[in-house]
Amino acid sequence: MEKKKVIYSAMQPSGVPTLGNYLGALRNWTNLQEEYNCVFGVANMHAITVRQDPQDLRKRTKDIMALFLALGLDPEKNIIYVQSDVKAHAEIAWILNCFTYMGELNRMTQFKDKSQKHSDNINAGLYTYPVLMAGDILLYQSDLVPVGADQKQHLEICRDIAGRFNGVYGDVFKIPEPYIPKVGARIMGLQNPEKKMSKSESENQNNIIYIFEEPNVIRNKIKRAVTDSGSEVYYSEDKPGISNLLNIYSSVTGKSIEEAVKEFSGVGYGEFKLAVADAVVDTLAPIQQRYKEYSSDKAYIEKVMKEGAEKASYIAEKTLNKVKKKIGYPIYK
Ligand code: TRP
Repeated sequence: MEKKKVIYSAMQPSGVPTLGNYLGALRNWTNLQEEYNCVFGVANMHAITVRQDPQDLRKRTKDIMALFLALGLDPEKNIIYVQSDVKAHAEIAWILNCFTYMGELNRMTQFKDKSQKHSDNINAGLYTYPVLMAGDILLYQSDLVPVGADQKQHLEICRDIAGRFNGVYGDVFKIPEPYIPKVGARIMGLQNPEKKMSKSESENQNNIIYIFEEPNVIRNKIKRAVTDSGSEVYYSEDKPGISNLLNIYSSVTGKSIEEAVKEFSGVGYGEFKLAVADAVVDTLAPIQQRYKEYSSDKAYIEKVMKEGAEKASYIAEKTLNKVKKKIGYPIYK
């Protein structure tokens, strides 16, 4: 039997997950679990590169686990786990730091952005964040990593680090490739459709729809979304607001943009927005329902976390041991 390829991805437990996270990434994950061996992490070690409230962080970590389950990720078929539960992450990160050049890290655009945003706390962790991330991917000998535009540079540096290590020690790491999903959506903010809908851009709450938001709140936000001049619903660069709503509608309904435009020909902005809102609410409702059930079952979530950590550690340790042998750490029989 042909071995399934390994796909790795992770999500930080910082902020509250948005419709953008769902349509851009999370939704695809559930489609991958039949075809691939999937490893999905809650990247809480990444999250502490900016200050976190401890209680909040712990809660959000569990919430993301509950979200994974609510999305339909099966903990028997995939590995879903919390990064800090697998010690190998910290260990490999140090080793890989010694195979990463400062010049490479200096070029990372996310570091530049984040150090501007958190200018009071430009810590070394923020700087070596891409190395920690490279370790995540390489520990599981991942073939593929689903990446959006914002993570592309991180995957590039991961490939460079892995290639450099392999160049010295032989084929230790699988060099990962980007996975471009068949259907992917780049969802923009409702108030600022020129910029991605992101949980870190949360100054204006009306800009973002959260996965767990109440239906009436979602409806109101979509009603208030900025629209463009004119009154017709069509897809065009000079109509970023309407085009974004069309994208959202198309990705939650599975209809193509052309179909959607046809459906709304002759329909005003107001009516169009109501239809988009209904479609979004209908898509999120079952996830919200399952999320409620899972998150109230603390014992089950903990069990999934513990078992996930064990399965992840088993694979991660195998790679780590190979690496330790190669670089000359002691070996015990
Ligand atoms: N840095 C990613 C983000 O902020 C999260 C992440 C951590 C990740 N480790 C990863 C993504 C490994 C893909 C692969 O979205």
